[in-house]
Amino acid sequence: MATVLDVFLWLIFPYICLTIFVLGHIVRYRYDKFGWTSRSSQMYEDSILRWANPMFHFGILAVFVGHVMGLGIPQSWTDAVGISHEAYHFMAISVGALAGVFTIVGLIGLLYRRRFTKLVLGATTKMDKLMYLMLGIVILSGLVNTGSGAVGDYNYREGVSVWFRSIFYFNPRPELMPDAPLSFQIHALAAIALFALWPFTRLVHAFTAPLGYFFRPYVLYRSRDAHEGSRARRRGWDKVDTIPRRR
Ligand code: HEM
Repeated sequence: MATVLDVFLWLIFPYICLTIFVLGHIVRYRYDKFGWTSRSSQMYEDSILRWANPMFHFGILAVFVGHVMGLGIPQSWTDAVGISHEAYHFMAISVGALAGVFTIVGLIGLLYRRRFTKLVLGATTKMDKLMYLMLGIVILSGLVNTGSGAVGDYNYREGVSVWFRSIFYFNPRPELMPDAPLSFQIHALAAIALFALWPFTRLVHAFTAPLGYFFRPYVLYRSRDAHEGSRARRRGWDKVDTIPRRR
């Protein structure tokens, strides 16, 4: 039986946060399109960013794929195609731990430069600090989940995952969460709170990653040569080094 607090934490709070997530992005995109940016600090510091940034981003991408599988795909489906629970568990823990360690080491690098590079610290807002704090709690508690999965016997695919999917089916099952270990509860609550913060932070850039950059044609830069084509010369359009000098 779920108590009133359970209903708030595992039903009302998630819907409030997810509503803020959706509406917040729409409003921000509509009214702050020019502020929709990762607010890159590359020009202030490059040497730590160069390894920490890809580490964090590749790590979190792998974590995301793991979450789509672990939270999105019901255990009955993997059972049906012959993937045993033990095989799934082994893969989730080994690949998940690797992805999690990559992510946390990258995050530590990013936080170090943000704290100890004066110019980067100067470009850090209060919202950035709150966002990094939440991100840190989510990632650390996630790693504790994975670690406890290696030693404990809680099967999150029969608890947390079913609860998570039930929110999106609009058939919420808040009674499943009180039985989950504390680190799983902290992780889920912090992640949901992070979703509510998301539209008001630099994390919005996750939805506008410039993927077109990889596929667009090269921009060609050519020096001007003497050839000027067939157009007649026009006043004001002289080549820079041909403008007659006045004495
Ligand atoms: C409500 C949403 C979320 C739920 C229910 C959830 C649930 C879980 C679970 C069950 C694990 C253990 C996975 C395993 O051991 O196989 C885990 C791990 C982890 N989670 Fe989450 N998670 C959520 C959102 C997030 C978000 C938003 C982030 C990052 C921003 C994140 C980062 C991590 C990390 C780094 C790990 C450890 C590495 C891994 O196993 O992938 N999680 N999460």
